[in-house]
Amino acid sequence: MKIQNIGVVGAGQMGQGIAQVCAQSGFTTILVDAQESQLERSKLSIATSLEKLVAKGKLQSEQKDTALANLQWNAQLGDLKKADLIIEAIVENEDAKIGLFRSLSEIVSSQCIFASNTSSIPITRIAAASDRPKLCIGMHFMNPVPIMKLVEIIPALTTDPSTKEQIFELAHALGKTTVESKDYPGFIVNRILMPMINEAFYALMNGIGSPEAIDQGMKLGTNQPMGPLELADFIGLDTCKYILDVMYQGLGDQRYSPCPLLCKYVEARHFGRKTGRGVYEY
Ligand SMILES: NC(=O)c1ccc[n+]([C@@H]2O[C@H](COP(=O)([O-])OP(=O)(O)OC[C@H]3O[C@@H](n4cnc5c(N)ncnc54)[C@H](O)[C@@H]3O)[C@@H](O)[C@H]2O)c1
Repeated sequence: MKIQNIGVVGAGQMGQGIAQVCAQSGFTTILVDAQESQLERSKLSIATSLEKLVAKGKLQSEQKDTALANLQWNAQLGDLKKADLIIEAIVENEDAKIGLFRSLSEIVSSQCIFASNTSSIPITRIAAASDRPKLCIGMHFMNPVPIMKLVEIIPALTTDPSTKEQIFELAHALGKTTVESKDYPGFIVNRILMPMINEAFYALMNGIGSPEAIDQGMKLGTNQPMGPLELADFIGLDTCKYILDVMYQGLGDQRYSPCPLLCKYVEARHFGRKTGRGVYEY
């Protein structure tokens, strides 16, 4: 089966970026969200993001129009009937993701591939709870999706080789570079990134440096575009803690246990950029 129609479920920061990139690459794309207001917001942000690419000379004006023509927004899962592939980017909650794929099974064809953009939930567990374990796979895009080149592809233990092949092909058709990761907590990127972020919180908690000094040290000392604390605020401190919790539970090693200072920020609901306050104020 050739993938032509893509359904993206969840129109938050990740889903809107994924839908934009799919539409820009010529796929008929339907973006669905449970909240009408979120769909409205995503229309505006996708249009603004495409405008910016045109202004920077990275996209022709006609290509922007074609991308918008390829894209539909909808509040109903029922409109995904023709989808060859669903990419879910809903809330990071296992029951919600499993429930979504169960509902979709009643709507889409039995050949439709289910991909999850989860940062931390085991793909094998999502696949096992579905009616199509051979057709489930992890497709972990990076934020912001239209800019970041990488997609981590995570086959479940049950994923069929032909599903994997189709998803690699699709990611390349979206202009992305791929790496394959085994289905273990954190996959590749978060397995290495989250301990670094956690250590930056320990450095801050132990008074080794100010937030600015820690970030500047890592930016200039290790040639990273953002310091670890600034990056944690961008990802969301709640999300960082959640991923570390999953890694700690899944790998059973104390070194993945979230730093008490990170937990304190989360208790205070200082989640980072999205709440206007994290390590820094916005
Ligand atoms: N934020 C990141 O940097 C990042 C990076 C990679 C992967 N991810 C993963 O992507 C997923 C989405 O993250 P996000 O940051 O875009 O979240 P978000 O909170 O911005 O968006 C989630 C959206 O899903 C919608 N939603 C929730 N339940 C739904 C349902 N049952 N049906 C339809 N819509 C539903 C919500 O209304 C919301 O608009 C998560 O699994 C997250 O772990 C996030």
